[in-house]
Amino acid sequence: MRIFRTFIFFTLIMTFFGACTNQAGKKREIALVPQPNGLVKGEGSFTIDAKTAFVVPENDKLQSAAGLINQRFKQAAGFELAVVKELPAKNFIHVELTGEAGSNDESYQLSVTSAGVNIKAASERGAFYGLMSMLQLLPAEIESTQAVADVDWTMPCVEIDDAPRFVWRGMHLDVCRHFVSIEFIKKQLDVMALFKMNTFHWHLTEDQGWRIEIKKYPKLTELGSKRTEGDGSVYGGYYTQEEIKEVVAYAAERFINVVPEIELPGHSLAALVGYPELSCTGGPFEVRTVWGVEPDVYCAGKEETFHFLEDIIDEVVPLFPYEYFHIGGDESPKDRWKVCPDCQRRIRKEGLKDEHELQSYFVQRIEKVLLAHDRKMIGWDEILEGGLAPSATVMSWRGEAGGIEAANQGHDVVMTPGNWVYLDHYQGDSKVEPVAIGGYTTMEESYSYDPVPAELDAAKAKHVLGTQGNVWSEYMYTPELFEYRIYPRIIALAEVGWTQKENKDYEDFVKRMDPQFVRLDLHNINYHIPLPEGPLSHIAFADTASLEFTTTRPVKMVYTLDGSEPDQNSTVYESPLTFTENATVKIRSVLNSGKMSAVRTITVEKQSLLPAVSVETSKTGLTGEYAEGIFVKVKDLESAENWKTIDVNEKTLRTINNYKKPTGAKLQGYIEIPEDGFYEFQTNFDQFFIGGKLLVSNDGEVKRYSRNNAQIALAKGKHAVEIIYLNNNIGGFPQSWNYFIVDYKKVGDEKFTQIKLENFIY
Ligand code: ACM
Ligand code: ZN
Repeated sequence: MRIFRTFIFFTLIMTFFGACTNQAGKKREIALVPQPNGLVKGEGSFTIDAKTAFVVPENDKLQSAAGLINQRFKQAAGFELAVVKELPAKNFIHVELTGEAGSNDESYQLSVTSAGVNIKAASERGAFYGLMSMLQLLPAEIESTQAVADVDWTMPCVEIDDAPRFVWRGMHLDVCRHFVSIEFIKKQLDVMALFKMNTFHWHLTEDQGWRIEIKKYPKLTELGSKRTEGDGSVYGGYYTQEEIKEVVAYAAERFINVVPEIELPGHSLAALVGYPELSCTGGPFEVRTVWGVEPDVYCAGKEETFHFLEDIIDEVVPLFPYEYFHIGGDESPKDRWKVCPDCQRRIRKEGLKDEHELQSYFVQRIEKVLLAHDRKMIGWDEILEGGLAPSATVMSWRGEAGGIEAANQGHDVVMTPGNWVYLDHYQGDSKVEPVAIGGYTTMEESYSYDPVPAELDAAKAKHVLGTQGNVWSEYMYTPELFEYRIYPRIIALAEVGWTQKENKDYEDFVKRMDPQFVRLDLHNINYHIPLPEGPLSHIAFADTASLEFTTTRPVKMVYTLDGSEPDQNSTVYESPLTFTENATVKIRSVLNSGKMSAVRTITVEKQSLLPAVSVETSKTGLTGEYAEGIFVKVKDLESAENWKTIDVNEKTLRTINNYKKPTGAKLQGYIEIPEDGFYEFQTNFDQFFIGGKLLVSNDGEVKRYSRNNAQIALAKGKHAVEIIYLNNNIGGFPQSWNYFIVDYKKVGDEKFTQIKLENFIY
């Protein structure tokens, strides 16, 4: 299925910009994403109107593609184009198939002249991409779902000769940690198609939820698709086989292949809840309610496990016509296998060296099942351990090493190393962005990725099928947060997958993204806009405070000082803001389109040193009271009953620090401050008071990372502190997974000092 093509690279004439103007009279430049591999700008333009003839071959897929284009015109322009056989002398869009129908050749040529549009492609796929490029040559408003007035559907004359660099240009979506509707998925597929992405990797099973109906094993969804969250609510969802077919068909219309992922042998707890006999211990189990990796996995010693998985594959394969089937294979702890008599018997009987070889045995048995179904097996790079299955394709995620090793062994690989393509990473300062799993990957870093590792022997580069964005959804609590993390980085990756390395240019990409953001707006996509970073939200100062803001890429910032919400006409931030009195700064970023980021509110407070207190006490730890129960927010403590006193130290901490036994505590003590000064505090405690003043509040938030740091002026000596500690599990991250600490540092210092439990006194 690989395409080898010789490209003729046209010189990009950067000095000449297309002559088109939109109604506002502004010049509209050609701004295609991904950047085509050959593009020559012409002179003049062509305008599509209600009389334009749409000449499309008698081919079901192309007729359907023409239908999608017509849908755009119908919605945005208020007219549809007549799909005809006869080519008129002028005013046409002419799609021609020059090769074998059904081939995988994705190349196309697009020519816009004053007479019309000619798209030539060897296959329907290529023709579809020609049409997608045509949409991007039109004003962005073509993506509108409502009729737009006063727009000429004009495109600049241009010659494009284009083909992708890689055959796998994908997006992975974890619908297990958080579930999304099929409408949401269709929306993403629409956008993927617009940016010429062709692979949707659907991660359907996990420790935290089983999301695909399997008729033979109804308990997979009856029990495995639901979990009881830390706040007591039930969370869940799954797709019926009919819904899966609907998504796969929708994707196929957009030339997107769908790869199902059924995880094995690990990440399988949700399956074992209904079928505990397939585990090593026999259970019982509950669907995992916290993130992380479950030690209970399928038993590799029991034949029933393989029968079960064969049955599942029998049902899943017919739903997904694409040739690849993902079996997971990542992060499968060996703890249970090491002590399971069945697994150990299997190791002896098969002459295996260890549990890694047992995993390899497991995967190779599944490989045979898939091959019998005419499917190619793909798995995460752990499937290399203990010996790679002969025909396996490897998805390299723990860096590039696995991909390099597999390619050197002659296996195909899809490169998805975390540093560039994990779209669950932060894309800005963790202090201002919504809580994420960790990592730091900006759009620029995603864009910079080269799926062919520098270390890979040139002769093996052919094994690199491409790349994809991986969307792990632990910290994507809403559909909006999914989109916030996915976009715009996935579009950078679309260009990584399509555009030849020598045609990539980040600064140019950023410019070409301007109209793409408008397209995303018209698809109602909640993409990330860089937030003003730098200052904390709570600033304390003595004489003057200077606030310097930055963004992860150059974006205009606007602010107010009168408490009003900044809008496009507010003062533009140009240099650090200086304060000598208390102030409230409201600041946000604005894209060239006028779209604005969320607002950051920063309180700037003039303070004098809070005096120290004199107390004679030396017991280490904290003292206070706690109550049992689920307390999600601090105010929930008002209804707590049966308060018990507690002195908290290393020995007693577990009483209030085990998410399986939820509690809430109010604790008091003192901390020692070494010298007079302005200090910044950070903590994951729900609330932290100093001298009776609420300094840090993380109330109701997921406490994965401290985000509400605050400054305070403190005199040297002891200060009374109070801590509200809700031992709960919000959003899959139990408070008890945090260290029981407060960090502080002098404002301006780099490093924090930790106040651990043993550093408090009471
Ligand atoms: C993975 O991120 N566990 C493949
Ligand atoms: Zn076992």
